[in-house]
Amino acid sequence: MAIPIIVDCDPGTDDAVAILLALASPELAVLAVTVAGGNVGLGHTLANALALTALAGSDVAVHAGAERPLLGAFTSEVRIHGENGLGGVVLPPGGAAAPGLACDVIRRILREAAEPVTLVGIGPATNLALALTSEPALTGRVRQIVLMSGAWGEGNVTPAAEFNAWSDPEALAILLASGCRVVFATLDLTAQALVTPARIAAWRERGSGRCLRAACDIQASVPLLDRFGDSGTPLHDPCALAWLIRPDLFAVRDCSARMDLGPGPSRGRTLIDRWGRTGDAVNAAVLETVDADGLFRLLGERLALLP
Ligand code: BDR
Ligand code: CA
Repeated sequence: MAIPIIVDCDPGTDDAVAILLALASPELAVLAVTVAGGNVGLGHTLANALALTALAGSDVAVHAGAERPLLGAFTSEVRIHGENGLGGVVLPPGGAAAPGLACDVIRRILREAAEPVTLVGIGPATNLALALTSEPALTGRVRQIVLMSGAWGEGNVTPAAEFNAWSDPEALAILLASGCRVVFATLDLTAQALVTPARIAAWRERGSGRCLRAACDIQASVPLLDRFGDSGTPLHDPCALAWLIRPDLFAVRDCSARMDLGPGPSRGRTLIDRWGRTGDAVNAAVLETVDADGLFRLLGERLALLP
């Protein structure tokens, strides 16, 4: 039986591969794609989500959501994702967004689904938090929340904070207090999943479909980061989806987690207590390791199934 999921995203060069992976995988039933502003403004992230689902030949509903975080100012990450969010790669335009605002649609789906739904968040958590905080009883309809977010070590926007967590820390705090299990694919995990020219070349050898080609071109656009030198760049968001598809590729640990919501330099930090030092109740799990070769093989295999 396929796992029912909602993908909440901000595409995004790595969101692009994550969306294609979800749509190509029979283990997952994508009930909706909901979009927030994040890597780039909502105008671009929504257009990108629509273009990617159309490229995959999918008729999944794509809904617009939050343009900005619950508090504070919106900031984008164009240095990594380019002005259009896809590293300058231009896809044929998709269709129109489906009616309904993301948080309303998430609540409707949770209410109506035959079984609990897994929420996958690979952007700022605003849409998910708005949905759950406006109708808390629906947390009983959530199987779990799987996020690419946070870090137990260094951040990537500030020394303390990862981009999605830092973009809307209050939203992430709402999810952590919701009573739902929150599973984190953190920066410490995604640092193990580096895109390299050799891995892109191996994908390209798998076929000539338009989705595979787009995924390769988009990934080839991502700039190298000082932190990783020539070793490659982390492929963040697909890790969250891949864990649902192939949990055997990952090691996972239960833990407690909470947010630093202070105004200081640690704002947006995810305080992930992997070793039970706080004595706080377990409310989360972290994906600690990934078999990167297995992950990239899975991605190549699935991207090649798409048109
Ligand atoms: C996360 O932030 C975004 O830039 C990526 O799409 C990913 O979701 C990594 O910090
Ligand atoms: Ca993202």
